Order: sequence, then structure tokens, then C-alpha cells
Amino acid sequence: LRTILIGPPGAGKGTQAPKIRDDFCVCHLATGDMLREQVQQKTALGVAAKKIMDAGGLVSDDIMVNMIKDQLENNKACKNGFVLDGFPRTVPQAQKLDGMLEQRGEKLDSVVQLLIDDSLLISRITGRLIHPASGRTYHKTFSPPKKNMVDDVTGEPLIQRSDDNVETLRKRLATYHAQTGPVADYYKTKGLWQGIDAAQSPSIVWDNLRSIFVGKD
Ligand code: AP5
Ligand code: ZN
Repeated sequence: LRTILIGPPGAGKGTQAPKIRDDFCVCHLATGDMLREQVQQKTALGVAAKKIMDAGGLVSDDIMVNMIKDQLENNKACKNGFVLDGFPRTVPQAQKLDGMLEQRGEKLDSVVQLLIDDSLLISRITGRLIHPASGRTYHKTFSPPKKNMVDDVTGEPLIQRSDDNVETLRKRLATYHAQTGPVADYYKTKGLWQGIDAAQSPSIVWDNLRSIFVGKD
């Protein structure tokens, strides 16, 4: 299976993508997680990326394309396919991905956009908790960890993302509509696009996603 999840901040990409990874034995490539890893390691890229992420902007296309290229070439877990979460976010990124896949003799199966009204995203974003090392995601009220503020699997502390505040969310949403909206149109013209209602519960969203992918592994 080779698929892309498109959706605004808080739509549920990071909640659903690991389920696709586990169910279809593909790799989950989340560019936001990769950038946050760089931030944590305080690399030059991480330092530059943190400023951009906290301002709700986008890291340059070249950097992001190379990150994905490196994963597709070297991550053995991607041999069987992939789910992309957070990439492509601009039309040039989508065009570069097409070029990469063409070179590899691979084709996308589908592109799914998680559709949800902006007004529903504030509570999702401001209540989110993450386990930085694994990328596991919780929500203070919608899907709380078993024990207060610690990861269910490792027992390590959960944190809030520095871009998860109302002010940065507004900017991230504006960026999404301006830059990533056209990516959905790009895949519509290619006949690959499907939209699903992301305002429902995680388990209903998952059922609907799964039914799109069944038979495509
Ligand atoms: P990224 O990490 O990709 O952030 P994002 O796109 O803003 O998306 P989020 O991670 O906020 O949302 P999500 O859809 O994963 O939601 P989640 O499942 O966690 O990117 C961060 C930044 O990195 C960007 O702003 C940009 O600066 C940079 N960047 C990344 N990729 C880039 C690229 N390709 N090019 C350039 N720059 C790039 O869910 C959110 C919360 O809601 C959770 O608490 C969850 O538990 C809860 N929840 C999920 N589903 C439901 C549901 N159905 N009902 C109730 N609650 C739910
Ligand atoms: Zn995410």
C-alpha cells in the first residue's frame, strides 16, 4: 500500500497513520515527527526548523523532499509500501514525490484527505499530549493516557508541543489552506483523491479509512 494522508493540524493524521502502518505492514513517514527529532537533537536543521514550526510556517521544499527521498531509499520498513503523514504539503513537494516514485517504478494507490471544520481543531490541538520518542499521541479528555501525563508503553513523561497553542494554530491553519489545499486539487485531477469525514470518533474514522485501503496491500 502506498498512500498519503492530507489534513489540517489536529485532523488525526498522526492518530490514524500508525494503524495503517500496523495493519498493512508499511512504514509511517511523518515529516513533523522527523523535524521534532532534529529539534530535540539540536542539529542546525532542528534549530532553524523550530523557529519556522513555532511560527506556523513551512520548512523549505528541498529539505523536506530530501528527507522523504532518504527514507524511501534507506528505510527497510518502506519496502512493502508507506503511509505519508505531513508530506507533501505544497504542490512542488507533490511533483517531486511523483518524480521519485516514477524513478522507483512505483505508483500511489490513493490520497485521503481528512475533512474537518477548523472550529473543531482548537480543542484537539490544545488538549494534545505526545510521547516525543515514539510519536504516540494522547488527548487530555478525548483519549487520556492510563496514568496521568505518562506514556502507556514506556511510562515516560508526556509533553505538549510548543506549536500547540491557539495563536500558532491560527497560522498553521492559514498555511494549510493556502499551501496544502492546492495539493488536494493536484491529486483530484489525477483521480487519486478521496475525502473522509474526520470529525467522527477515531474508531469510526479508522473503519472508513480501512475500507478505502482493503485489497490494496
Ligand atoms: P506536523 O507534525 O505534521 O503537524 P500538523 O500537520 O499541524 O498536524 P498535527 O500533528 O498537528 O495533527 P494530526 O493530524 O497529526 O493530529 P493528531 O492525530 O495528532 O508538522 C508540524 C510542522 O512541521 C508544520 O507546521 C511545519 O512547520 C513543519 N513541516 C512538517 N512537514 C512539513 C513539510 N512536508 N513541508 C514543510 N514543513 C513541514 O490528533 C490531534 C489531537 O486530536 C490528539 O490529541 C488526538 O488524540 C486527538 N484526536 C485525533 N483524532 C480524533 C478524533 N477522531 N476525535 C477526537 N480527538 C481526536
Ligand atoms: Zn501529526
